[in-house]
Amino acid sequence: MDIEAIQKAYRRYARRYDLYFGALFQPGRKAVIERMGCMPGEHILEVGVGTGLSLPLYPSRVHVTGIDISAEMLERARARKERAGLDGTIELRVMDAEHLEFADNSFDKVVAMYVASVVPHPVRLVSEMRRVCKPGGEFFIVNHFHSANLLVGGVESMLAPLSRLLGFRPDFPLDRFVEETGLEVVASQPVNLFGYWTLLRARNNKEALPRIGAGEGARLRGVPLGGLEAGKVASKG
Ligand SMILES: C[S@@+](CC[C@H](N)C(=O)[O-])C[C@H]1O[C@@H](n2cnc3c(N)ncnc32)[C@H](O)[C@@H]1O
Repeated sequence: MDIEAIQKAYRRYARRYDLYFGALFQPGRKAVIERMGCMPGEHILEVGVGTGLSLPLYPSRVHVTGIDISAEMLERARARKERAGLDGTIELRVMDAEHLEFADNSFDKVVAMYVASVVPHPVRLVSEMRRVCKPGGEFFIVNHFHSANLLVGGVESMLAPLSRLLGFRPDFPLDRFVEETGLEVVASQPVNLFGYWTLLRARNNKEALPRIGAGEGARLRGVPLGGLEAGKVASKG
């Protein structure tokens, strides 16, 4: 996966994204926002906001910044914001989640819905989420991870070489994701159809991992790096 492939895939998906992935992923989006318990005045960053299907779910008086690398997906989020009459507390910007243009400690909570297995470098994604989130703030990540079921996991591994075309990695491994990113997961729960997706809630442990560069969390834990970097996951069974 690289940025050009992602942009191309989501340019292709944009028009029909809501039809394919709207209702299917909506229980997960709702679960995330319920668990977030947003308070008035809080600043939330949603990375990979896509067509903005989550936006109407946020309570009012919460400041939400949504970013996405796909201008076409974000265009639909802007249209949704307009249609739903969502007020000025929602800001949408084209931006790379791996190179966020925000100052350190800008947000109370950072959310990534169905994005971690899409970006080229998941470790860099979490590193940036950690940087812009306040110490002790929270991350909410919902994603599909490689299934432990032999049959389902086998199919996912077979589909892995098609990652560039699909626009996500079907065989994204949860254990390595948590290890290599140094995420301090405090809760996890299955969501969506058959509990096939997982919602992770994690604490921003930046004070424990002082200056996180890509994969530094893993280095601190002595975990070998590289498995989650672009193009390498696809070959993992
Ligand atoms: C599967 S969609 C999820 C969209 C939305 N979060 C949802 O709930 O439907 C993945 C989104 O991540 C975006 N994305 C992928 N890589 C990105 C990156 N490096 N920076 C920002 N957005 C990215 C894609 O453009 C796409 O809109």
